[in-house]
Amino acid sequence: MQQTFKLRKFTPKDLERVTYINRVCLPENYVDYFFMDLYERFPETFIVAEENGEIVGYIMCRIETGLSNFGFGGFIKKGHIVSIAVMPEHRRKGIGHALVTKAMEGMHLYNAKQCFLEVRVTNTPAISLYKKLGFKITRTIHGYYSDGEDAYLMSREL
Ligand code: ACO
Ligand code: ZN
Repeated sequence: MQQTFKLRKFTPKDLERVTYINRVCLPENYVDYFFMDLYERFPETFIVAEENGEIVGYIMCRIETGLSNFGFGGFIKKGHIVSIAVMPEHRRKGIGHALVTKAMEGMHLYNAKQCFLEVRVTNTPAISLYKKLGFKITRTIHGYYSDGEDAYLMSREL
């Protein structure tokens, strides 16, 4: 299928649209400052997808230092996918896959060695996407979400 979307880095004028997509697509919502802080600190991993000049998806990440998620290698830099969403009518066109791939390229620029995220254990679409991208379930975090649902920690080497 022909790709009709294009990816570019987030800019501050995109804030309103990105927070809108976040609220439509996910129960985990954040204050404006949270989005802007991630943009200011990690601009290379805050990416939006546009179709016909309209933003239809985003991904935002944070670079953290911590122990390897695979039980060896000691302290390393890791790229943490904080939030990703694609508008419902634009799903299953490869946008989510492209957003994660682009964000992982950005993580390389910050010298991250691994990439990880938390996802609801019932979120089959997202879990399928991450598995397709080579992520493995490395841990279950009980009661991670405010409604009590568990999260899978999913990780991969970069
Ligand atoms: N069912 C099964 N597999 C799926 C589904 C689904 N509904 N959606 C995606 N996949 C898998 C498939 O393998 C798919 O490849 P295929 O279409 O060739 O079969 C592959 O993932 C790639 O799919 P994309 O089209 O790239 O993904 P999409 O653009 O639809 O975005 C996303 C996926 C971001 C998870 C979207 O469904 C969404 O916005 N969901 C609501 C928000 C959300 O759950 N975000 C993730 C929360 S976790 C976090 O943010 C860290
Ligand atoms: Zn997280």
